[in-house]
Amino acid sequence: MAVKVEVRTPEELERAAARVLPAAVRDFVAGGADDEVALAGNLAAFRRRTLHPRVLAGADDPDPAAEVLGARLAAPVLVAPMGMQRLVHADGELATSGAAAELGLGFVLATGSSVPIEEIAGPARWFQLYLLADRTVTADLVRRAVDAGCRAVVLTVDAPVVGNRPRDNRTRTSGGWRNANFDPYPSIDAEHHGYVSTIRPDIGWADLAWLVETAGVPVVVKGVLRPEDAVRAVEHGAAGVVVSNHGGRQLGRAVAPLDVLESVVDAVAGRAAVLLDGGVRRAADVLTAVALGADAVLIGRLALWALAVGAREGVTAVLGGLLADIRRTMTLLGARTLADLPGLVSSPGR
Ligand SMILES: Cc1cc2nc3c(=O)[nH]c(=O)nc-3n(C[C@H](O)[C@H](O)[C@H](O)COP(=O)(O)O)c2cc1C
Repeated sequence: MAVKVEVRTPEELERAAARVLPAAVRDFVAGGADDEVALAGNLAAFRRRTLHPRVLAGADDPDPAAEVLGARLAAPVLVAPMGMQRLVHADGELATSGAAAELGLGFVLATGSSVPIEEIAGPARWFQLYLLADRTVTADLVRRAVDAGCRAVVLTVDAPVVGNRPRDNRTRTSGGWRNANFDPYPSIDAEHHGYVSTIRPDIGWADLAWLVETAGVPVVVKGVLRPEDAVRAVEHGAAGVVVSNHGGRQLGRAVAPLDVLESVVDAVAGRAAVLLDGGVRRAADVLTAVALGADAVLIGRLALWALAVGAREGVTAVLGGLLADIRRTMTLLGARTLADLPGLVSSPGR
């Protein structure tokens, strides 16, 4: 590979990806909802926190290993569900999932993936579900995911309708859009992102209870920003929640997940896994979230920029670089394992 992606900062990587992607794909990946306040706020929330390292702590060989819902991970990191990755690079989800598996990280396959569920391998993969109007199709997607080896189903609940994304709207074309999981279902148009129009806008708690009963694997609820919703999810059988505002793509003024993480962790009180995504770009972001109580984080756009610039090798380099940086940062923090992290991050202003 000609491009040395691992030496780039996330900002350089984003710029490099923008140079190689067609405008419509660049804006699909980058865009946030409305005035993009939430998109910027996700990044700003991490920068408001400071790290308070412990010295002389013998953390020269730290171990960031994590276990999340039975998945043993080299670090508390999964690739977030993101649809249509073949728009970003021809290898799409095969590249991102392959890189994650190689590094011992988790991978969440989107309902709207551009590679079929059955073609994704790797030990720590989960399936993201949108609840569709056709319950038979929804149940069949879950069955196929579980049969294919997905160990959890991630129900996305913050997209009853699609957010208004000005950048995306401006350049969007339908050319080349093809969702790979819908071939068996003639009622859904796989060519034009057609499943999106069949996402159920009236999704409710009874649907979560149905999924928990149906799935046969742990169910994680993605898109929770209020502690009482996290508690309700647990009461309806969820094994985990993802504190998320969908990377700022849905509600343009949504609170940053990091700013509500501690309240969700307190409310859940160890009864379920708590994950976070939105604005995670650096090792310090990963460790900040874990220090504040997250079991793991999901990486969104960073993985797609790496995919755009360097295919699977690029994703391996960027996520491998993140892993190395997590170790380095743990040494600098005086944390030998993730259990040493709580207390090392400030509240804003401390
Ligand atoms: C291009 C793109 C497509 C996405 N597609 C989905 C999806 O199909 N389902 C879903 O639950 N989240 C989706 N997301 C949201 C991500 O799972 C994740 O919440 C978000 O990207 C995290 O923020 P970050 O990009 O700042 O890391 C998508 C995000 C992007 C950037």
